[in-house]
This record gives sequence, structure tokens and C-alpha cells, in this order.
Amino acid sequence: MKIIVTENYDRSCEIAAKMIADVIRAKPDARLGLATGGTAEAVYTYLIKEYKEGNLDFSKVSTVNLDEYVGLSPDHPQSYRYYMDNKLFNHVNIDKKNTYVVSGIGDIEKNVAEFQRKLQEKPIDIQLLGIGVNGHIGFNEPNSVLKEKTHVEELDESTIRANSRFFRNIDEVPRKAITMGIGDIMRAKCLVLVATGKAKAQAIRSLVIGDEIYCRNPSTMIKLHQNATVIIDNELAELVGYKKD
Ligand code: PGA
Repeated sequence: MKIIVTENYDRSCEIAAKMIADVIRAKPDARLGLATGGTAEAVYTYLIKEYKEGNLDFSKVSTVNLDEYVGLSPDHPQSYRYYMDNKLFNHVNIDKKNTYVVSGIGDIEKNVAEFQRKLQEKPIDIQLLGIGVNGHIGFNEPNSVLKEKTHVEELDESTIRANSRFFRNIDEVPRKAITMGIGDIMRAKCLVLVATGKAKAQAIRSLVIGDEIYCRNPSTMIKLHQNATVIIDNELAELVGYKKD
């Protein structure tokens, strides 16, 4: 696992965006695995900028997202479909038919199965990841066991608390989500995880220091990946005591 320390969050996102852009330039019909959340926002801002400057063509790109809340319709402002449309898809020349965010409403079991089929159709060339305060990736929450495939996950109290900042109050935060499993994430050819902020220190410490893998910190699974990059800023690196060897 490669660890990059940058001067600040903005630079971290620029590097992650460049990694994604390079994959698209090398393979115009690349499949991107995308993430939502506050951290990913600036990555999309950079990708839009590259597109607007004429350096990037999304016309043949396809995408699949990590997860979606159970119970939010695609037009709900806090749904991840809505996020993706507004933060990226509406601003570039991607064909929306080639974008997939699993539906969080209707027959959930059927949606989970459709999501798994979608992942089997075509491998992900590069997967963008954020990390939860508890170390989750996608919505794979800390537990005594982790799941390999797409499934419904009960959200951890810490996740509900952290994500309540996007809702009017904590009671509005959905209690469940559909997520890629750990195996689905690990099957992507390349992983890029971006993290910033004090709240992530505990999760990032056991990811970037030592070679232990913990079910209580699902992100540590990516230490096993052949082509994973973790990008953190100086502030976070100092906070967790990470030093390049
Ligand atoms: P955040 O979420 O970027 O909003 O902190 C990341 C995550 O929960 O994976």
C-alpha cells in the first residue's frame, strides 16, 4: 500500500483526481468506482475542471457507486444518486445510462442482487474511497465479521452521528444502507483512499501504521490490495504520528 502525504486536503483531492483522470485517458471506456461524502467533493471539482478545460472525455466512461441509503429515493437531496448527479454527472459529458447508484427504495433484496450483477458485468478500473470515523469503507461497518459481497448494512451509531451533519436532525439519518462488500472493493484494479480531519485520526492510525488487519477497522483490509494508495495531508499524518520510512 502506497501512502502519500500532501500539504493540504485540496492537494490530496487534486492528486486523487489526477489518478482517476489518468485512468480515463489511458482507457476511455474505463469503469470508475465512485464514493460520496464530504471528502470526495473536491475530487469531483477537479474532475469537472479537467473536463471543462478540454482535458477529459467521459463519453465512454461508466461508473458504479459504493453505496446508497435504504429508504431515500433518488431525488432525495441526501441520497447518493442525487449527490452524484449534482456534484459530478450533471457537469461532465457522461451518459447517465452508464452511471449506476443502487436504488435504496422498492424491493431491497432485488436491488442488492442487481448491484452484484452490475459489479460482475465489468471490473472497476479505479475505486475512490473515503473512510468513516470508525474505519468503514463503503458502508462496511466495524463488526466481528465482514461481508464479501453487496449487502444491507445496519449503520453504526458513530456513522449516524457523523452523517447527521447533512440532515436537519439525527432522526432523519437512515439506519441502513446497501453497500458493496469488502470483496467487491478489493476486486477493483486500483484503490485510492482520501482522508482528512481530526475525526479520522483513529481510523487512519491503524491503516497507515503497522501491518495489522482488524475487523474493527474495515479499511485495514486494503493493506492486502496490490495497488492501493492512501492520500492524507500533513496535519493528519502528524496527528497519527506517521513518518515515511
Ligand atoms: P466523509 O465520509 O468524507 O463525509 O467524512 C467518508 C465516509 O464515510 O466514507
